[in-house]
Amino acid sequence: MTKATKMSWPAGVLGALLSLALLGGCALGHSQAPTDEASQKAATTPEAQSDIDFMVLVNKTHPLPAGWEDAVNLAHFTNSEGWDVDVEQTAYNAYLELKEDLEAEGVYVDLDSAFRSTQEQQRIVDDFTAKYGAEYVKQYVAVPGYSEHHTGLALDLFLIIDGKGVCENEDMVTYPEVWKKIHAKLADHGFILRYLPGKKIETGASYEPWHIRYVNDVQVAHKIMDEGITLERYLGALDPAVAECVVDYGNSTVYSESDMDSALDPILAEFGGWAGCSLKSLTFAGDAVCAEELAHANSLRAEEMGEFTQAILFTSVLHSPSAELCEGTAWQPDTDYNDYKWLLARRGTDDSWQLLTWGLG
Ligand code: DAL
Ligand code: ZN
Repeated sequence: MTKATKMSWPAGVLGALLSLALLGGCALGHSQAPTDEASQKAATTPEAQSDIDFMVLVNKTHPLPAGWEDAVNLAHFTNSEGWDVDVEQTAYNAYLELKEDLEAEGVYVDLDSAFRSTQEQQRIVDDFTAKYGAEYVKQYVAVPGYSEHHTGLALDLFLIIDGKGVCENEDMVTYPEVWKKIHAKLADHGFILRYLPGKKIETGASYEPWHIRYVNDVQVAHKIMDEGITLERYLGALDPAVAECVVDYGNSTVYSESDMDSALDPILAEFGGWAGCSLKSLTFAGDAVCAEELAHANSLRAEEMGEFTQAILFTSVLHSPSAELCEGTAWQPDTDYNDYKWLLARRGTDDSWQLLTWGLG
């Protein structure tokens, strides 16, 4: 698989991918010693500095600012797998320091993917749509123009364990202790962990331990990392309707956090239109309740719509709007509703979650 088609995958879906041998590359092993700095030294060093905002926010709702590619200076190098990688120059220098710092602790990493043009992102979308379907892509690949990788400041790491590259995400997630050591060093070098576990509602993305983001300010990086907050929260860029919403994923043996993350999308889409309401929490109702809801949904709808194979029920605390905005609605103004329920169902993992019912329980 070529570099342009290599892609990162959230941990929660990877179990389903084990048999697919998705992402080629590292599995073939390394031809170079992992600590060999030769490829790093081959990086070019442009004269000019990037004239960019290192705190830029690029996510599902914030596209890459116009003119970015003219203002960013990229370093180019070939990694230990032989893949060409482009990275914003200052971020690249910081990465080399991070790498050295980690190596002193016996932790070895390399760069998988950093800067991507919108054309490269589109190629990834097309390739994975053909292979895995639109639903899969919708959840795990940013729309071209809305990927943080366009900035050159987002770096996907891979691990080198016992001298061998571990690049497949389903393999990388089996080293949580190694990631813990890596994450502990990020802020010292001006990096943050971008997609925190359980924060899809804020970042729009599921947990990716390998995706780090350069912010060019050690103090800011420390504040974000030490407080365990998202870049969106640090920048005050959260939608007030969900800014205080805590998601409790419970202890399911049926649904992964990634499954539940994907089920949040239709809730947020629906909720987006409710002026003045805010969500305080979303709590997974548990496997037994979800199984009952699945059976019930199928008993009502199977004939007309085909059989659902999965159902997730979230209970939530919802806060109603002020008196002014409540006029003409059934809400009591400025009140917590503690038993608001959201039922979602789908017909397999290739299907979109549908919001079947929502309301007070
Ligand atoms: N996987 C991340 C979200 C991207 O495509 O930018
Ligand atoms: Zn990434």
